[in-house]
Amino acid sequence: MSSVAITEIGSLVTNDSTLGDGALGIRENAAIVIEHGKIAWIGDSSNAPAVDAAHSVAGKTLIPGFVDSHAHMVFAGDRSEEFAARMRGESYSAGGIKTTVAATRSASNHELRENTSRLVAEMHRAGITTFESKSGYALDVENEARTLQIANEFTTETTFLGAHVVPSEFADRADEYVALVAGEMLNAAKPHAKWIDVFCDRGAFDVDQARTILSAGVAAGLWPRIHANQLANIGAVKLAVELDCASADHLTHLSDEDIDLLAGSNSVATLLPGAEFSTRSAYPDARRLFAAGVSVALATDCNPGSSFTTSMAFCMAVAVRDMGFSPEQALLAATSGGAKALRRTDIGGLSLGMKADFSVLNAPSYIHLSYRPGVDLIDSTWIDGKNVYQR
Ligand code: NIG
Ligand code: FE
Repeated sequence: MSSVAITEIGSLVTNDSTLGDGALGIRENAAIVIEHGKIAWIGDSSNAPAVDAAHSVAGKTLIPGFVDSHAHMVFAGDRSEEFAARMRGESYSAGGIKTTVAATRSASNHELRENTSRLVAEMHRAGITTFESKSGYALDVENEARTLQIANEFTTETTFLGAHVVPSEFADRADEYVALVAGEMLNAAKPHAKWIDVFCDRGAFDVDQARTILSAGVAAGLWPRIHANQLANIGAVKLAVELDCASADHLTHLSDEDIDLLAGSNSVATLLPGAEFSTRSAYPDARRLFAAGVSVALATDCNPGSSFTTSMAFCMAVAVRDMGFSPEQALLAATSGGAKALRRTDIGGLSLGMKADFSVLNAPSYIHLSYRPGVDLIDSTWIDGKNVYQR
């Protein structure tokens, strides 16, 4: 079937101000036509051209698919008890990662694929049409490569995060581990990865170690991104800007100097409200970033320790309620912001020629995504013009 129309869209969000009102480029009573998986026509539903198949959404809202630029999707094991302990008052430390590492190393490929596939299906139900996935729950040469290979079966946005924490067998030998990550492990990982990431934070890797690893990754042809300022500000944002990281992620702790650096850079500030929520940490104030003109993304950080959610709508609701986003800023951050954090121009909006990745909402406007927290509003999700989820 070569052309498909989605008609009777009550409120169409394009993220293209030349196609409709405001920064979100909103049109009412609209239709889109998809050809070869891309947006081929946008206009009034009453003027929609003849197509091979038409699908009415009867007045619902249609938004660009969410772009989840930060997730950790390939792992085994369960850490719900750790969450319960935290809610009783224990503090979050990166140490819990090692529990997942033990479970992931001993899991079969079949088990890891099944776990990942379940989470990907959850993401489609949540309106996510592109997601990034990091390694970092294996932390040895063979298993980092193995988990990245599995991630690659589900997404092209794969990230080598061998520098998540120093594994127990390298306790007190962190520099040896850094050399392994930047050498043999990087070599094994790079055929399966597009990006390289380091958890540059208190209790993980310091700025010099992170620079060594990210620079080695860049020299090997990977693109850099970084976990920055989640637990403390040890200077990771400065490094992000120095290395032109596509994104600096978390930013729970954020100084004015960091904000100025980001504003003058090509690095996106990716905020992860699920992590502050699930570790009961104070939320960063995104208004400071917006006021300085920093590009902002929202992502789920889906992982078994600090943010076990695939709900971008939940992250948006928290961002609006507690981080100073407007509903409009939250939608932009979860779509075009995520695309920018992945340095992609074919996703994150519905301009002509972009990938036909979108979701239909059971709601009269996109604002309902944060106005109705915890309510599943996703009616259907489409990738390359194909329906991957229908309620
Ligand atoms: O992005 N910050 C480091 N990594 C993950 C948490 C990993 C874990 O606790 O398993 C994050 O929040
Ligand atoms: Fe993370």
